[in-house]
Amino acid sequence: MRLKLALLGFGVVGQGLVDHLIHNSEKAKVEVGFDPIVVAISDFRKGSIYDPNGLNLKLVLETLEETGSLDTYPGSNELVRGLDAIATIIESNADAVVEATYTNVKTGEPAITHCKTAFEHKKSVVMTNKGPIALALKELEQLAKENSVFLGYEGTVMSGTPALRLPKTTLIGNNITKISGILNGTTNYMITQMETGKSYEAALKEAQEKGYAEADPTSDVEGYDAMYKVVILANAIMGKHITVDQVECRGLNTLSREAIVAAKANQRCWKMLGTVEELPNGDIRASVKPVEVAMDHPLASIGGATNAVTYTCNMSGEITLTGAGAGKSETGFALLIDLIYCHLHVQKQANMTLMN
Ligand code: HSE
Repeated sequence: MRLKLALLGFGVVGQGLVDHLIHNSEKAKVEVGFDPIVVAISDFRKGSIYDPNGLNLKLVLETLEETGSLDTYPGSNELVRGLDAIATIIESNADAVVEATYTNVKTGEPAITHCKTAFEHKKSVVMTNKGPIALALKELEQLAKENSVFLGYEGTVMSGTPALRLPKTTLIGNNITKISGILNGTTNYMITQMETGKSYEAALKEAQEKGYAEADPTSDVEGYDAMYKVVILANAIMGKHITVDQVECRGLNTLSREAIVAAKANQRCWKMLGTVEELPNGDIRASVKPVEVAMDHPLASIGGATNAVTYTCNMSGEITLTGAGAGKSETGFALLIDLIYCHLHVQKQANMTLMN
């Protein structure tokens, strides 16, 4: 059975996924039988199209490029236009929803409502929105489990770099007592630039021009973006139940250029580190803040917008993973890999039904 997908939100991330579905999913088809069809795309601004037999993705991208809208997509007799996100979830024949809407990180909405609606209608969800996962992971996981559907959120931390799936699969069985990393590309890029003598303002402007920073960079420079990722790592990987207000948060805006330049002169450097640690008494300590590290620290050499994270494991020791933390292709891949796992989940469910 082909996995039928509904895409909610069709910005850079959704289009990154569609690019991969068009050009890069043949290998997964051969290897694990992953052969999805996109039946619906609903975007608040660009319009909404649903065809129960599947959309022509190349034509979708061409239409969007030519007209900036999905409203002019030609489609078949069965094409339905104008369904909003909730109607798309409920009324389409999709098995899985790709949640990529513009969501308020502080409330997690409308993505949390979209997830709950999907689960209640026995549909899986994959997403890269941080807010819903940082705020409501346990509740969403429980609801997905009750309805025997899949929830994927790999792209919420370090985009397509497997910061969540690596510890949950390859490192399984380890007791992970500490996770610490460079979880925000904008601020790491800024520090790297400020080490060469650039001002904070010039470095931020460059990070914005290169597309690393959020539209409103406050979330990057004041540490909130990394704070949400720390909560996700603590809860999803270490099995904790922390909330954003338990994370000590100090942004890059609290660090002077002089301190950055002085550290460099002393063969040391500053990194914005997001850390969660289980103390010997069982307490959890979580923070996002500038930390001065020695040059032999595993994260000292990570420059530019690259992200990296170190897991302290009781059996395998310290494992450091490094890679992109953002980008159209990388974040599109995060959705793709979640969908491949969703496909494997659906296959497993079908096999269990056959055996019973
Ligand atoms: N603005 C973020 C960063 C993008 O700089 O890392 C990914 O969350």
